Amino acid sequence: MSNKSKSYKKSAPRVYIQTFGCQMNKYDSEVMRSLLLKRGYQFTDNWKEADVILVNTCSVRQHAEDRVYSYLGKWGKYKEEKRPELIIGVCGCMAQKEGMNLVERMPCIDLVCGTHSIPLIHELISDLEKGGGRRIELSEDFDNFPPPVYEAKESKISAWVVIMRGCENYCSYCVVPYVRGKEVSRPPEDIADEVRRLADEGVKEVTLLGQNVNSYKINQYSTLSTEGDFSSLLERINRIEGIERIRFATSHPKDMSTETIEAIRSLPKVCEHIHLPVQSGSDKILRLMNRKYTRNQYRELVSTIREAIPEVSVTTDIIVGFPQETEEDFMDTYELLKEIQFDASFIFKYSPRAGTKAYEMEDDVPEEVKRERLNTLLSLQKRISQRINEKLTGTQVEILVDGYESRPSVSFVAGREAKSQSKLFGKTLTFKSVSFGGDEKVIGKLVNVKITQVRYGLLEGVIV
Ligand code: 5AD
Ligand code: SF4
Repeated sequence: MSNKSKSYKKSAPRVYIQTFGCQMNKYDSEVMRSLLLKRGYQFTDNWKEADVILVNTCSVRQHAEDRVYSYLGKWGKYKEEKRPELIIGVCGCMAQKEGMNLVERMPCIDLVCGTHSIPLIHELISDLEKGGGRRIELSEDFDNFPPPVYEAKESKISAWVVIMRGCENYCSYCVVPYVRGKEVSRPPEDIADEVRRLADEGVKEVTLLGQNVNSYKINQYSTLSTEGDFSSLLERINRIEGIERIRFATSHPKDMSTETIEAIRSLPKVCEHIHLPVQSGSDKILRLMNRKYTRNQYRELVSTIREAIPEVSVTTDIIVGFPQETEEDFMDTYELLKEIQFDASFIFKYSPRAGTKAYEMEDDVPEEVKRERLNTLLSLQKRISQRINEKLTGTQVEILVDGYESRPSVSFVAGREAKSQSKLFGKTLTFKSVSFGGDEKVIGKLVNVKITQVRYGLLEGVIV
């Protein structure tokens, strides 16, 4: 290391982490943060101040990858011109998928850390600091669950708890099985221990995470357990004192069992919200996507869920412009959306991913048609969400107060510091966001809020 670069070194190296993608990625970033905090690293929100930049990446759509390359371009230029000793690491899905290609395209990268190597992040960075040279870590140690995160959580009130990793569904468009590997469930004893400790530390809400939580099952490592499936896990977590709300994501419609529906209905702490990606309303497209259910089976499933749990909210994911999607196929999706009346939908344009089955099909829906279909569904969903949410006006809902809607900002008016306090923010049992005025003493508590106004996704109200 040159003298020039030494002069930049702080006593404790500072790390900047940027995260793309799903909740699992956000959780993995918390794992990295936790492991590095324990070894004395500090964190910064300003990448220009950092000694180590880590980007935790998503490969689900090309757009997410393009954004990472653009950040790497910016950081690489800065490193070349001003901070030659800056360590740049690419972690997660893109790292696992691209490996060496990343370094060939972006020579500024010092570390490529795949999805299964996240628990080694502190060792990898320490090696680099000692001058060990570039590291490419792409192990496939599927059974390596990262250690639980306690002290590094962003929220003291809500926590993610990983119950399984990987996916073996091989939906034809999806890169996840290739970058996250085979399904491994975590022993229920470990999950319960983690949730118990989180509860001791004041956490009120846990979200059980897995690519497909419905296929949670005890794996070969658990000799202690007699209980096995996802519904028994929900029962077990429901018994833990101090936890007030239990959420979970994501569910695959083909694996949603009557036991799980019954658990959501009967267990008081399990929130009445199911994210149930449908992806398409056309049987032909569902078949090409390898989703393993039909439009009618999906409709029946939603009816069964709604009959059992009338107050449930159902949200979904949809892909438009999948190969061979005709206007008629698209209208099947449009009509299904209209019929089912989802509380919210996440709608995406199909993005071909190398290595998947769909990649071998011609990406034959033109970009402008994809965009048009996306916009058509977005505006339909906006109307539906508004209509559903308007029904809540005047009613009282129970909110777990997360904190401020946005951080209180400090401004300087005529030389005097003026704190403009934002509104408080939280979610209903049905996963709807609500903002309301109130004292910070209620943060972390359950309060009743009367809904006064609805703006599509966001409800506004007053504490009663
Ligand atoms: N193109 C577009 N959307 C995709 N998704 C997954 N793979 C792709 C892809 N190749 C969407 C699905 C999934 C969500 C997380 O991302 O709707 O449910
Ligand atoms: Fe991807 Fe399908 Fe697995 Fe979800 S269930 S992660 S869409 S392969």
